[in-house]
Amino acid sequence: MNILVTGTAGFIGFFVASKLLSLGHVVIGLDNVNDYYDVNLKESRLKILHQNKNFIEARLDLVNRVGLEELFRKYKPVRVLNLAAQAGVRYSFENPYAYVDSNLVGFVNLEEQCRHNQIEHFVFASTASVYGANNKMPWDECDGCNHQLSLYAATKKANEVIAHSYSHLFNIPTTGLRFFNVYGPWGRPDMALFIFVRNIFEGKAIDVYNNGQMVRDFTYVEDIAEGVCKVLLGKVPMVNQLWNSDSQYPDPSTSGVAPFRIYNIGNSRPVELMRYIKIMEDEIGKKAIINFMPIQPGEVIKSEADNLDLYKEFDFKPKVNVEEGVHNFVKWYREYYKY
Ligand SMILES: NC(=O)c1ccc[n+]([C@@H]2O[C@H](COP(=O)([O-])OP(=O)(O)OC[C@H]3O[C@@H](n4cnc5c(N)ncnc54)[C@H](O)[C@@H]3O)[C@@H](O)[C@H]2O)c1
Repeated sequence: MNILVTGTAGFIGFFVASKLLSLGHVVIGLDNVNDYYDVNLKESRLKILHQNKNFIEARLDLVNRVGLEELFRKYKPVRVLNLAAQAGVRYSFENPYAYVDSNLVGFVNLEEQCRHNQIEHFVFASTASVYGANNKMPWDECDGCNHQLSLYAATKKANEVIAHSYSHLFNIPTTGLRFFNVYGPWGRPDMALFIFVRNIFEGKAIDVYNNGQMVRDFTYVEDIAEGVCKVLLGKVPMVNQLWNSDSQYPDPSTSGVAPFRIYNIGNSRPVELMRYIKIMEDEIGKKAIINFMPIQPGEVIKSEADNLDLYKEFDFKPKVNVEEGVHNFVKWYREYYKY
């Protein structure tokens, strides 16, 4: 089927689009190829996608309403996956409007097109960061989360509530996926694995926040791509007849008034940051020079996904452990950057 995937020049979008193409679907890949990080890396990903004749590139900004309307008219996508967004926590301190434009205005533009084009299933990327100040672990979709710690997380939480209202008003089957620290080859240069590996190779110091006392549920990108495709192509969410609107805490992950669902998509095996760094050092064969720093504003100390719902509904089982995942990243990094 014709599937619109936004963010295909990006890290996760590249893997998901590759998987959809390998399954024989036509992928309309929307991306504005912005310069938030190295544009050459984005172009290299796109070059690989272009090797498949079923990949159609649409170089477009989600903010461009008219362009988006034409795109839907021309290609008539059946299902839509939104991965395009302004990511990152620190960048928002200096560039808040990048988040407002892409994650809020762009998101509503896409919802409007889903509304007017009878889309079978709209799936969008949310983030583990929406759990913000929640300390109960593992993070469960049934828990409320209303205390985001960054503008990035706040815009993603806004996506979830906007999506619920569109799903309710216009009967759009909608699924939000909360990604947990995605890593792997072709990864993002603003994320810890990339920065740490590059600096270890170059003999430069790495900044390690909260004195290394952090725990993350690192999730390998191919596991993510597998899970996203299962959800996007599989059975669409329905109104939950058992949803209890009289409860003091109505379940936020499903809805009695909309075909709407939220899932965590993580590895469910959290790893201490210092162990993650040790695996990189072993893989590269060199010690990191570490600058221990206090915690950064907007950061959480621990993340851990409860994946039970995604396992029950879609048989999602992440396969790649952190040793194998970091090995694959370092191998890619050596080949791509000729180290
Ligand atoms: N990587 C992670 O660990 C992680 C964790 C949680 C959530 N997410 C979410 O998953 C999605 C994909 O993340 P990623 O790591 O691949 O990020 P990425 O930055 O590599 O990819 C996003 C892509 O979207 C494009 N884009 C941004 N704004 C756009 C706009 N207005 N119009 C068109 N294209 C635009 C960018 O050019 C980029 O290629 C994002 O929504 C992100 O917030 C990622």
